[in-house]
Amino acid sequence: MAQDQPKDRPIKLGIIGCGAFAQLMHLRIIADLPEFELVVLCDSSAEVVDALAERYNVAGRYTSVDEALDHPGLDAVLIANRDHYEVVAAALDKGKHVLVEKPLCLDPAEGRDLIERADAAGVVAMVGYMKRYDWGFQELTRRLPELGEPRLVRVHDFKSQFHIPWALYDLVRRTDVPAAEKEAEMARMRASMTSAVGEDGNIDLYRIILFFASHDLNVMRGMFGEPLSIDAVRANGNDTIVAMLDYGHRGPSLLELSAATDFGWFEEEITVAGATEMLSLRFPHPYVHYGQSELTLHSHDGVATRQERVLAPYSDGFRRTWEHFAHYIYHGGQPITSFRDGLADLELAVELTRRSAS
Ligand SMILES: NC(=O)c1ccc[n+]([C@@H]2O[C@H](COP(=O)([O-])OP(=O)(O)OC[C@H]3O[C@@H](n4cnc5c(N)ncnc54)[C@H](O)[C@@H]3O)[C@@H](O)[C@H]2O)c1
Repeated sequence: MAQDQPKDRPIKLGIIGCGAFAQLMHLRIIADLPEFELVVLCDSSAEVVDALAERYNVAGRYTSVDEALDHPGLDAVLIANRDHYEVVAAALDKGKHVLVEKPLCLDPAEGRDLIERADAAGVVAMVGYMKRYDWGFQELTRRLPELGEPRLVRVHDFKSQFHIPWALYDLVRRTDVPAAEKEAEMARMRASMTSAVGEDGNIDLYRIILFFASHDLNVMRGMFGEPLSIDAVRANGNDTIVAMLDYGHRGPSLLELSAATDFGWFEEEITVAGATEMLSLRFPHPYVHYGQSELTLHSHDGVATRQERVLAPYSDGFRRTWEHFAHYIYHGGQPITSFRDGLADLELAVELTRRSAS
């Protein structure tokens, strides 16, 4: 069982998986937060670990997950490799608080196992769905009741060129990981995804939903809970899917997800239409620090149409995710993006993939 975290000292944190995303977002944010002391960096690439440990002045440098987890005094870990299951299981079994990047893992069966381990360990177990902690998204959910019963909901997410903001950052690339190790990781991931959607399932579409669009399934749940039914699904190839979900509202909720686009800007938006007013929220690019989400209330006062535009404060969803993680570690409580929440996304992703084939 996890010990109570003393509130008078920073949480000793390790990062397992120090690739692009850990470097772009997490490392920089952690360095700004007094709640955390970064004591461990672990990656399959010694080159990456050494370069980042020098940059961020971290003493604990590991290429072995087990050794990293045994680092003296380690309280919590961020898991930001791609194939999370085994690493999350090991961290939970050693009683560490876990923040794992989305998706929780690749197969609902793995997710159920991780929930059991997290419950047994009694630690904070949270999925890093940062959009749920975004100020603008929380303001949207706070204002939803003012709209009355939704007439129509639309969440759309069209892929942009994610590498564009990389020019802002000096990333350390791995060149020392043997090809066989990378192939073994891909084979494991493929096996997990096959277990989830079946031998004949569209694994490429499932992978796109998990890695690109699981945020969208998750924000739908953040607004309305579980769908009562999936009324229609249409996929084009492996990269585009449109689904119509029923949350018991007067009208349907549409998910429009496409990785077939290659925009030079970031394009992800939620629209909720009431009878006379409409709320829309645009998310900022996830690779740019302190980006502001933008909430717009469209209304009509009988004479003129009005748009109230609210820009979220600079404390973006990532920083707020870390602040919530610290809060749960210090004070207890169940994260809104719990492992059960992450599992529900996996189950919905499996169902959407299956239904897209029929
Ligand atoms: N929240 C978001 O918007 C968002 C955006 C992009 C990526 N992500 C998530 O971040 C995670 C990482 O993505 P990425 O693009 O940085 O991947 P990446 O391939 O650039 O980095 C992964 C790193 O993990 C290391 N690694 C692999 N297996 C390991 C192991 N067993 N032990 C230690 N290190 C290991 C690799 O060497 C690599 O450096 C994924 O889960 C992805 O879904 C989230």
